[in-house]
Amino acid sequence: MEKERLVRIFDRQAAKYESNKESSNLKKWRRELLSQAEGEVLELAVGAGANFPYYPPDVKVTAADFSQEMLGAARKKASNYNIQAEWICADIEKLEFESHSFDTIVSTLSFCCYGNPAEMLKKIQRWCKPGGKILLFEHGISSNIFVSGAQRVLNPLLYKMIGCHQTRDILNLVHESGLTVQRTESHWLNMFHIIWASPGEGF
Ligand SMILES: C[S@@+](CC[C@H](N)C(=O)[O-])C[C@H]1O[C@@H](n2cnc3c(N)ncnc32)[C@H](O)[C@@H]1O
Repeated sequence: MEKERLVRIFDRQAAKYESNKESSNLKKWRRELLSQAEGEVLELAVGAGANFPYYPPDVKVTAADFSQEMLGAARKKASNYNIQAEWICADIEKLEFESHSFDTIVSTLSFCCYGNPAEMLKKIQRWCKPGGKILLFEHGISSNIFVSGAQRVLNPLLYKMIGCHQTRDILNLVHESGLTVQRTESHWLNMFHIIWASPGEGF
């Protein structure tokens, strides 16, 4: 799908994301992951700032998203939670940062959106300092054959409606990217994955 169309889809969803009606599980998983962030943080595809309540004090966040509406909501949330942030409104797949710019790179529920998720996993390893933290909370194809069958059937429609692929094999993408994985947790029939990692060797 063209990027302009995707941006419009996410602009329209910003109010829903801002109202933040997440389950207590999602909130718990975000807290568990984000409590590990430190230093200079790059948050990819920040959305309406759903992670801001969970960052430790003293982090400095560079928040990127291509939806102005999402960024507007994220700005309000950052001020509610005293988050020091810089804002980038751009397609993260086209952005470049100097190698080794960030202590922590965070992505939650964004690898379902990218045209080339494997390339993004390489980029974030370059942008992260050696030994830095890459913290991911992503969703994808279930290991349950009934659920994955439904996901495959619904994927084209859902991608058109909400801009989000349902069938990505997140753990395999992570494995193939060369990330050094410290720990993973999978939930809800292995549809959701929380991943604590660092850049692989050679990044
Ligand atoms: C499913 S939402 C997740 C938002 C947030 N990370 C969260 O956990 O609630 C996906 C977000 O990714 C953004 N996004 C998708 N593709 C993007 C891209 N290529 N560049 C920048 N932002 C992107 C959308 O605008 C949207 O805010």
